[in-house]
Amino acid sequence: MTFTVAIDGLAGSGKGTLALALADKFNLAYFDTGLLYRGLAYVALDEFGEDFTKTNVINIAKSFRVNTLKESNLRSPILGKYASEIGAIPEVRKILIKIQREFKEKSPSNKGIVVDGRDIGTVIFPNANVKLFISASLEERARRRLRDFLTNDENISYDEVIKQLQKRDQRDKERSVAPLVAAKDAHLIDTTNINKEETLEIASSLVAKKLSD
Ligand code: C5P
Repeated sequence: MTFTVAIDGLAGSGKGTLALALADKFNLAYFDTGLLYRGLAYVALDEFGEDFTKTNVINIAKSFRVNTLKESNLRSPILGKYASEIGAIPEVRKILIKIQREFKEKSPSNKGIVVDGRDIGTVIFPNANVKLFISASLEERARRRLRDFLTNDENISYDEVIKQLQKRDQRDKERSVAPLVAAKDAHLIDTTNINKEETLEIASSLVAKKLSD
């Protein structure tokens, strides 16, 4: 059985930063599943413009290749918005389940994997060894996202980031398939008042304990 750490949580909660740091520390392979939804949004916009349809996206998903994803293209706020709309299409989620589980089967690390997203501990890997659910206040998440966007020269205001996060949280929590919710056996970590080193410390002790079981 491949050792699996499943990390879910809200947009801007710090789950991606934590996932990457955990993978690095424990020598695990890392998969940011948000890139799948962002990648589909990128291709849909590129091929069909903003009026792409559900059928367009389903067809793109059917022939989607993970190794074509270029992370640097995919972090913009606009792709986050479309990714969350695409994430509400049940047929798309069904296709992406397979891709995510394949990552585990073909894992590049024989030590295990860290996977982050919205439904990893609930739907994709319900038997994960460690499940974490990361949250933070809306205002703190907006401050972090704004910092990232400004670093990448995205022209966006704090109020607009707040609005986008609220909309995305609501859509992710209320969709009919695989809504964002903490798995019953997930450890909850609120990062509002702790920095990334402290977050890593809390998560590391949970992972280290499971690895030594
Ligand atoms: O994590 P990130 O912000 O890159 O994800 C973009 C969007 O993709 C999320 O708002 C969510 O709607 C969708 N997503 C998802 N399930 C995942 C990962 C991302 O629905 N496992």
